[in-house]
Amino acid sequence: MIEGLNFIDGEWSDSPTKLADINPSDTRDIVGRFARASVSEVDRAADASRRAFPAWAATTPLERHDILQRVGAEILARKDELGTLLSSEEGKTLAEGIGECARAGQIFQYFAGECLRQAGEVLRSIRPGLDVSVVREPVGVIGIITPWNFPIAIPAWKIAPALAFGNCVVFKPSEIAPATAYRLAEILARSGLPNGVFNLVIGEGKDVGAAIASSPKLDGISFTGSVGVGQTIARAAVAVPPMRRLQLEMGGKNALVVLDDADIERAVECAANGGFYSTGQRCTASSRVIVTEGVYRQFIARLAERAESLRVGHALDPQTQVGPVVDERQLEKNLSYIDIGRNEGARLIVGGERLKRETPGYYFSPAVFADVSPSMRIAREEIFGPIVAVIAARDYAEALAIANDSAFGLSAGICTSSLARAEHFKRNVKAGMVMVNVPTAGVDFHVPFGGRKLSNYGPREQGRQAHEFFTVTKTAYLDPMC
Ligand code: UN1
Repeated sequence: MIEGLNFIDGEWSDSPTKLADINPSDTRDIVGRFARASVSEVDRAADASRRAFPAWAATTPLERHDILQRVGAEILARKDELGTLLSSEEGKTLAEGIGECARAGQIFQYFAGECLRQAGEVLRSIRPGLDVSVVREPVGVIGIITPWNFPIAIPAWKIAPALAFGNCVVFKPSEIAPATAYRLAEILARSGLPNGVFNLVIGEGKDVGAAIASSPKLDGISFTGSVGVGQTIARAAVAVPPMRRLQLEMGGKNALVVLDDADIERAVECAANGGFYSTGQRCTASSRVIVTEGVYRQFIARLAERAESLRVGHALDPQTQVGPVVDERQLEKNLSYIDIGRNEGARLIVGGERLKRETPGYYFSPAVFADVSPSMRIAREEIFGPIVAVIAARDYAEALAIANDSAFGLSAGICTSSLARAEHFKRNVKAGMVMVNVPTAGVDFHVPFGGRKLSNYGPREQGRQAHEFFTVTKTAYLDPMC
């Protein structure tokens, strides 16, 4: 069992109160106990970061590259061990846990490369003789608040660019699954970063998260989580001067459109992967599948078979295809949406039940609702569980209209063999990411990630575009003749 501490100004610090990290596959197993940071420790971390910032911002790109490269290499070398820990605390399958750790390592290495690719622009002024240069500078101290569903990949894709572009970090992982993030913090702590550049504060949103959101000592906040919490953070972040910059990645109600001309087996695979893998606990999950009439019945039957065939079990069992739900609260939320869907008149054709396994855990059978109408709550609200709502559409035009009729706009997919339809969908769907014949979930790290509408507020994450949030632009005019 891990006994986790906080990391502030280069030192590990304990606390009299602890948070327990419970294995959702076996609730008798406590993965770790973590020192709960206090609000004054958040303040101390912010002070340490402010002190460390000028020297860190002045390091060479190569110094930062070397540190991030080392961090990435260590994560990659330990991906099996870290992946086992991740699956133990979060409940995704071992393959998914190891895959996520590998991705975190690759993200650090990608941003190590980005350290060496930071460029500006030089333009001629509209006034004679003057040059104008446009350069990017680090923002300062960034508060990073991450969710439990990607306990290392999301921290990696916020922390790595923050450091690469010369910022300092005050990091709060989710208190529901802090163990893998804790291991990441240990790796960062001995990576050669000067004291105060990276700080870890473990705690709940209501105090530690709130202290980060409202601290006037932080210059920016990058958050991934629910819309409600995102709005609370945004209000706090602008309430007092200086108004801080924000990057909020929030929910999704991602549509997968399946047309009559689709390869049905491929479409079922996309829906099952996007809807049920990672126990549906992804903001990019395909929680709405919109199917045109010609293949509707066939698709429903095949998806139901696929859902039923998935082996739900202990995350570390190599046979398991769908791990447990993260905790009791989320499991109850899933069950309540099963009732909501039934009461709204949708037809539950498979799953949606609490399951018993050899070990006590939060097991839930992947569910498919058919005959869902676009106005039902199960078609409009983010559930964050393995529950897929299938909606029938007359034709492509209606399917596209239903896909766009959502408060969210993170990811959207289409399964079709028509290039014209695929291209039309790419151009007209209102989402930040579009997937053609691939699941709505599962993204690359070298391209921008983010959504529209309620799914996002602020600049994109990942890829080259990550610099938009983690740097500030400076425009300098120079008359070289004086
Ligand atoms: C993915 O689908 O690969 O919280 C990533 C989430 C997203 C990440 C999804 N921010 O689920």
